Amino acid sequence: MNDARPIILKLGGSAITDKTTEAIPKNEIINRLAEEIKRADLDNLIIVHGGGSFGHPTAAKYGIKDGYKEDPTQKFGYAETHHMMTVLNGLVMDALIWHEIPAVSVAPANCMVTENGKVKTFDETALKAMSKLIFTPVLYGDAVMDEKLGFTILSGDQLVTYLALKYNAEKIVVGVDTDGIFEADPKTNPEAKPIKHLNLTELKALQPKLGKAAGTDVTGGMAGKIAELIPAVEAGIPVTVTGATKSLSIYRALTGQSVLGTVIEKT
Ligand code: IPE
Repeated sequence: MNDARPIILKLGGSAITDKTTEAIPKNEIINRLAEEIKRADLDNLIIVHGGGSFGHPTAAKYGIKDGYKEDPTQKFGYAETHHMMTVLNGLVMDALIWHEIPAVSVAPANCMVTENGKVKTFDETALKAMSKLIFTPVLYGDAVMDEKLGFTILSGDQLVTYLALKYNAEKIVVGVDTDGIFEADPKTNPEAKPIKHLNLTELKALQPKLGKAAGTDVTGGMAGKIAELIPAVEAGIPVTVTGATKSLSIYRALTGQSVLGTVIEKT
């Protein structure tokens, strides 16, 4: 039995794929992250990964986030978006299994339905059974059915907050391709300064100023990411945003060591 409060790790699509070119994984980084996750040796870990250049371009091409508009090509687009996510998930799973992590993929498309983009139903039976036996569930941002829109995109960031609130997570670690959150978008503004600590009020004030994203991003880049995380911070769950592309940052954040990045706490 495993009653420990979970630690939720988000691996951002910008960290595990090249967001400027369609469907290009960053295999070396995926592999190193698996190594760090193995080394952290946690039995209460839930992993969620983003879509990067596997999910976003197809989702954008067929307008999947805005829902079904009676355009039959969109049905193929939905299927292709979900499939692209399973391909990326396969690469992440390969690396985790190769490192002897008992990771099991849980496809949101098959156990979650949203209403106007927000999770409405979640069949958690399998996930709960897995965590009792100390498996490491791996979910991902996905194309999902939506009760009002027909279908939509459920971001990995919304999933992280949803799971963190549902299972009263100990903490959230978000791995991105920058060293945490900056005062402005460091990719477009090289002068932007990194932020070490944010409380809820500071986070809310900063959120609209954050950047969109390099490449196609249907879920709103860093600004969208932070907006999704706010309810978790409000509930008192601390969030560390750090560079998943930097060696050992994820290991250090998972094991509670200080790390280059941004710690977000309610107060
Ligand atoms: C997006 O998930 C999933 C799809 C587009 C299918 P995220 O919004 O969590 O992905 P990243 O981390 O920004 O790439």
